[in-house]
Amino acid sequence: MTQNDHQPRTDEAAPPTAGRPGLLDVRDLRVEFRTRDGIAQAVNGVDLAVTAGQTLAVLGESGSGKSVTAQAVMGILDSPPGFVTGGEILFQGRDLLKLGKEERRKVRGAKMAMIFQDALSSLNPVLSVGAQLGEMYTVHEGLSRKAARGKAVELMQRVGIPAAEARVSDYPHQFSGGMRQRIMIAMALALEPDLIIADEPTTALDVTVQAQVMDLLAELQREFTMGLILITHDLGVVADVADTIAVMYAGRIVETSPVHQLYKAPAHPYTRGLLDSIPRVDLKGQQLYAIKGLPPNLTAIPPGCPFNPRCPLARDICRTDLPPLYEVAPGRASACHFWKETLDGAR
Ligand SMILES: Nc1ncnc2c1ncn2[C@@H]1O[C@H](COP(=O)(O)OP(=O)(O)OP(=O)(O)O)[C@@H](O)[C@H]1O
Ligand code: SF4
Ligand SMILES: [Mg+2]
Repeated sequence: MTQNDHQPRTDEAAPPTAGRPGLLDVRDLRVEFRTRDGIAQAVNGVDLAVTAGQTLAVLGESGSGKSVTAQAVMGILDSPPGFVTGGEILFQGRDLLKLGKEERRKVRGAKMAMIFQDALSSLNPVLSVGAQLGEMYTVHEGLSRKAARGKAVELMQRVGIPAAEARVSDYPHQFSGGMRQRIMIAMALALEPDLIIADEPTTALDVTVQAQVMDLLAELQREFTMGLILITHDLGVVADVADTIAVMYAGRIVETSPVHQLYKAPAHPYTRGLLDSIPRVDLKGQQLYAIKGLPPNLTAIPPGCPFNPRCPLARDICRTDLPPLYEVAPGRASACHFWKETLDGAR
């Protein structure tokens, strides 16, 4: 028994977004990589929900399964060695895992788009940005090259590229990192998708440019009423832009919560550790907290709670019983046997 009298969140329980139009509903998603070193359990039963006009931030250390989850949703998983072994990916009511390759490609082209960290390797180096943006319209919407070029300029203007008309014939390497990232955003927006997944979109940029690109993304997301999944390992950047946060650890969601509640009082020791390790202006000069140890090897995830070897609150039950997602409050869940203590500030 645990200290909590709340029931684990079950499939019957209302999801946090109940009553709002569902855009993406990922249920019990499982992905493994079959490698020479063994089977890496990269995603182990992930549930995510995003509605139109909502931003969900997915947070977690390197290797926690954020990108693999995104790749599975987009249908661009590196397979082999990666395989989806279970779950559903409901997008506008259809399970994408049941679609054929061609249908899947159509959804990916027109209705969902992805923005990656590294614009330089995602854009084609030998085509001008105008040609790449224009291609979205010639290929997908059958526009003439001239009309497509006009659209490309419009898009470049919309994402804040100065002198767009003059720069439409420039190549990716002629733009700064921040401007290239804006071009990636323009590419993603071109067909007005319903969902954008941005995987560490600002990590490669310096801090001021990071903030500008993040603001642009948030503004466009509101303007187009898109769903946005923002993947990051930086809790600092999501506070102002996200509605909901899902924290991942070893391929599981360990906490999910409206953003402000999570910042005020985390309900999982791992989230608490992430929050305590953000640099703070008011504590300048003090040593930053760091979560001790390393994430587990995904070919040998420890029994019980996967976080137990690193957790300051771990007890016997944590080494034997995998915590389910306990409902902490409406729209909030934590996969910790001792979520209540954590919520009350235990460290
Ligand atoms: N191509 C691959 N081949 C084998 N294993 C892989 C591959 N891609 C991912 N994995 C496994 O999946 C795990 C999760 O990877 P993922 O890229 O989702 O991490 P992440 O949370 O996005 O981390 P980061 O913050 O570093 O981007 C990795 O630790 C690795 O074990
Ligand atoms: S279940 Fe136990 S080990 Fe896991 S986070 Fe909670 S207290 Fe820590
Ligand atoms: Mg990643």
